Amino acid sequence: MPMPHARKIIIDTDPGQDDAVAILLALASPELDVLGITAVAGNVPLDLTARNARVICELAGRDDMPVHAGCDRPLRRRLVTAEHVHGKTGLDGITLPDPRMPLAKAHAVDFLIDTLRSQAPGSVTLCPLGPLTNIATAFARAPDIVGRVAEIVLMGGAYFEVGNITPAAEFNIYVDPEAAEIVFKSGVPLVVMPLDVTHKVLTTRQRIETFRDLGNRAGHAVASWTDFFERYDIAKYGGQGAPLHDPCVIAYLLAPDLFSGRHINVEIETKGDFTQGMTVADWWGVSGRAANALFMGEADAAGFYALLTRRIGDLP
Ligand code: BDR
Ligand code: CA
Repeated sequence: MPMPHARKIIIDTDPGQDDAVAILLALASPELDVLGITAVAGNVPLDLTARNARVICELAGRDDMPVHAGCDRPLRRRLVTAEHVHGKTGLDGITLPDPRMPLAKAHAVDFLIDTLRSQAPGSVTLCPLGPLTNIATAFARAPDIVGRVAEIVLMGGAYFEVGNITPAAEFNIYVDPEAAEIVFKSGVPLVVMPLDVTHKVLTTRQRIETFRDLGNRAGHAVASWTDFFERYDIAKYGGQGAPLHDPCVIAYLLAPDLFSGRHINVEIETKGDFTQGMTVADWWGVSGRAANALFMGEADAAGFYALLTRRIGDLP
């Protein structure tokens, strides 16, 4: 249960094992009041992300959480998915029961618009963990809500790590660069967790076993998901484990000091032949363009895993 004055958030997501861990972390944290979860097409198609979001809520014992299905494709492009990373279901690694809770009736975009209009201005933080299609559609359809958003804390982009889905682009931004451009130009205060940060919070054998040893069903699921998820990254990067990308967003809300970065200008490449979806991040301040984001560069991995493990241990 959220504590009095908990921070109100909406999680916009395309689960995805790392999205799943992020959602569990949020649901385990009384400092956060999750008003709803909005699903978007990304890692897998929308019917699966909308399903997976409910599977995760039920795993956390939160079948009361409104889960809204949103946009099933990017604004102007064909959907690119990532089954090669996340498996066919998006949540491969453990078989969980089909959800019994229904989807909430409203479309995710309507839910975003209505919630931002009905809550006090500046009181709701958006937490996008996938392509930015739902958020950009809501901003385009209802420009009056843009100034009411407290902050957007998102996972996406890269500078020093450049790309993961192409040599130049990170997946979430690559899938819908036009949507990302709308969000990055919106004027809403942005905090960005790029690959530069998420590639510093790698799973290790010991970290995974610590989740398993918690002895609860959430810990078992997190260990099974990360076991599955890390194979792809170990094969690709040759490192010790997989980056837990999306939980960085929620960890930042709980413990911002785990991360550090720079207030810089970030533009989205929408036209390049080879660089579509690149986040052109002016880390060195050479462009003269105004800062529009707090772009993170460093993370305290030990602190991150300590927080995450403690909170997952509080779940059923
Ligand atoms: C991002 O893409 C997805 O595969 C992950 O869920 C994460 O949000 C990392 O590039
Ligand atoms: Ca994601």
